[in-house]
Amino acid sequence: MDPKHGEGGSKLFRAQSHLYKHIFNYISSMSLKCAVQLGIPGIIYKHARPITLPELITALEVHPAKSGNVYRLMRLLVHSGFFSKTKVLTENDQEEEAYALTPSSRLLIKDESNCLSPFLLSMLDPAILTSWHSLGGWFRGNELTPFESAHGVNFWDYGEQNSEFNNLFGQAMASDSQMVNLVVQDCKPIFEGLDSLVDVGGGTGSFSRIISAVFPHMNCTVFDLPHIVANLPESKNLKFKGGDMFQSIPPADAFLFKLVFHAFGDEDCVKVLKKCREATASKGKGGKVIIIDIVIDEKKDEHELTEAKLFFDMLMMVVVTGRERNEKEWERLILEAGFSGYKITPFFGLRSIIEVYP
Ligand SMILES: C[S@@+](CC[C@H](N)C(=O)[O-])C[C@H]1O[C@@H](n2cnc3c(N)ncnc32)[C@H](O)[C@@H]1O
Repeated sequence: MDPKHGEGGSKLFRAQSHLYKHIFNYISSMSLKCAVQLGIPGIIYKHARPITLPELITALEVHPAKSGNVYRLMRLLVHSGFFSKTKVLTENDQEEEAYALTPSSRLLIKDESNCLSPFLLSMLDPAILTSWHSLGGWFRGNELTPFESAHGVNFWDYGEQNSEFNNLFGQAMASDSQMVNLVVQDCKPIFEGLDSLVDVGGGTGSFSRIISAVFPHMNCTVFDLPHIVANLPESKNLKFKGGDMFQSIPPADAFLFKLVFHAFGDEDCVKVLKKCREATASKGKGGKVIIIDIVIDEKKDEHELTEAKLFFDMLMMVVVTGRERNEKEWERLILEAGFSGYKITPFFGLRSIIEVYP
């Protein structure tokens, strides 16, 4: 055999593996979704030690004809790092394989703090997944987003019309915000000295709830679309207000935008940033904007982190009119809206805090 041929062949087979891995990437996310639907992370957590396959099968209450398939699901999820395999001693001193949680599946334990299961279930909801089938056609058509091509309405109106989807999305955002409690002490200087803060597009207020508890003297207002903030429990220094940020924003010393700007195009972001300047409560110390969002940095970030950020960017293309931005792109928005400068601190893994100065 011509050795050159052989080498070319193996290169192509490697390319085939690479191609197939990416064709089937959805199997990784859908298998993880299945594990969450079955409550596997919670079962292992409650078991309080690594769980053997028979123990897991019993706890799952799967149909007897399906019990042989649990191993196959777990094998893939061990391979992708969501569970680990270890050995335990059974009652009759036999060594048996057992599954344990990894740091990633610890984030999927229902009802525990920092549980991202709602985020997973929302992002893998059929309403979002269906939109991806419209992406190719969207490039050539004139609909605003693939989501709109698929559903006939934009993402925000769809939420208003579908309360189940809306609630799931609200829980997803709240679960994401809850992770802030891990770094809230480090963020303290950013909020110190402010008398009032408006959390614009603050959803159901889980971020503001944490911040308002840490700063009891700061009045926090969560400002979002009326159907999002209706009937939510308030506290002494946490209030909710419905409205449209493109029309006007309630006055405050500072304005917080967590994962809001990435859902909108540049022109919309500049418009909203200018609204903040109009709404500054006290010209002396006010007017600061605090943005929590992704900053793409392909040179500095590790491969996996960049990949996750680029996935978010595509998601913003498919479901809304937004995008993820690199530092230059953030700078352009900030300066165009008339702010004098900014400081970026990468606080939250995927997300950074961008402090924007008047
Ligand atoms: C991606 S979510 C982020 C929610 C929240 N900041 C968080 O991180 O959990 C974007 C939010 O912007 C809100 N939003 C969209 N359009 C808006 C508008 N025109 N005025 C006010 N809020 C809006 C949505 O309802 C949603 O709660």
